[in-house]
Amino acid sequence: MTLFDAVGFGALNVDKLFRVNRIAAAEQESFITGFEEACGGSAANTMVGLARLGCRVGFVGKVAGDREGNMLVEEFRREGVDTNGIVQAEHGRSGTVMGFVDEKGERALYIDPGVNDTIESRDISAAYALQARFLHLTSFVGRKSFEAQKKLLQVLPKEVKVSLDPGALYAGMGLNKLESTIERSFAVMPNAGELELLTGKADYQAGAKVLLKKGVSIVAVKLAGKGCYVTDGKESHHIEAFKVKVVDTTGAGDAFNAGFLYGLINGKSLRECGRIGNFVASRCVMKMGARAGLPHLKNLRLLS
Ligand SMILES: Nc1ncnc2c1ncn2[C@@H]1O[C@H](COP(=O)(O)OP(=O)(O)OP(=O)(O)O)[C@@H](O)[C@H]1O
Ligand SMILES: [Mg+2]
Repeated sequence: MTLFDAVGFGALNVDKLFRVNRIAAAEQESFITGFEEACGGSAANTMVGLARLGCRVGFVGKVAGDREGNMLVEEFRREGVDTNGIVQAEHGRSGTVMGFVDEKGERALYIDPGVNDTIESRDISAAYALQARFLHLTSFVGRKSFEAQKKLLQVLPKEVKVSLDPGALYAGMGLNKLESTIERSFAVMPNAGELELLTGKADYQAGAKVLLKKGVSIVAVKLAGKGCYVTDGKESHHIEAFKVKVVDTTGAGDAFNAGFLYGLINGKSLRECGRIGNFVASRCVMKMGARAGLPHLKNLRLLS
């Protein structure tokens, strides 16, 4: 029985963005002029996007018992993402990303994976994940959590389709290390740079072919302002991005994944999946942050 249209499995982070007069080098002092905090994590953003589109979604991940951990779980609850697959560690810190942005918009980022990197197979309920039609994987920094993802794939029944956004972290591991994960994936959704990192092919059409040869059914390549390229080996489409006023592209790729998966879940054609992906991403980039602009189901009417 499927309880969920999709379950996400990836890092959970609170993003802490500090505005500063300038980014301090070693032995220097700078001043903080503003502060914003937001829940993030790639798969987490994608699940929030799907929930807003009316899909039944859940999450597998780990937080600590700190304020950030509570924020992450509470925001999921508010958005309608099931949290029963999230474990709370007794010790340690929840994942955070600390960003320092200066007046020119240049950034320095410090990532604290915290308990994201301590996920073990015993933290994960395979029974939870196998209630999903799609399991959506995104990256962890640490080896242990990557191994836990691979172990889950080994016991996951074939009926559960896997979608993967490798991000720069997993793409940088190369095809060999990622092979078993790629081979089990139904859909892979990298951006063009990640696809090159992963396959060594500078041409994304050639890169997508490499993944199809590995047994992937669908590849969706994100091309930023140029939209996307989608292929299943039989049909291939370039789909133009929506022309919108861009405010902030944080989370654009995660939003695209939500729209694309929404299409797959609802049996749309490959071209339509790409178009919905572009649409959801276009709404995301019109607002600050990864989640604020994510559309609701009623907004999809703008598409037809
Ligand atoms: N300037 C833009 N105008 C319209 N749509 C855009 C623009 N930039 C990005 N998008 C949309 O967002 C999607 C994802 O963007 P991008 O290719 O930058 O992904 P990404 O690099 O994975 O993003 P992220 O930094 O979130 O991981 C694109 O496929 C496109 O649909
Ligand atoms: Mg991305």
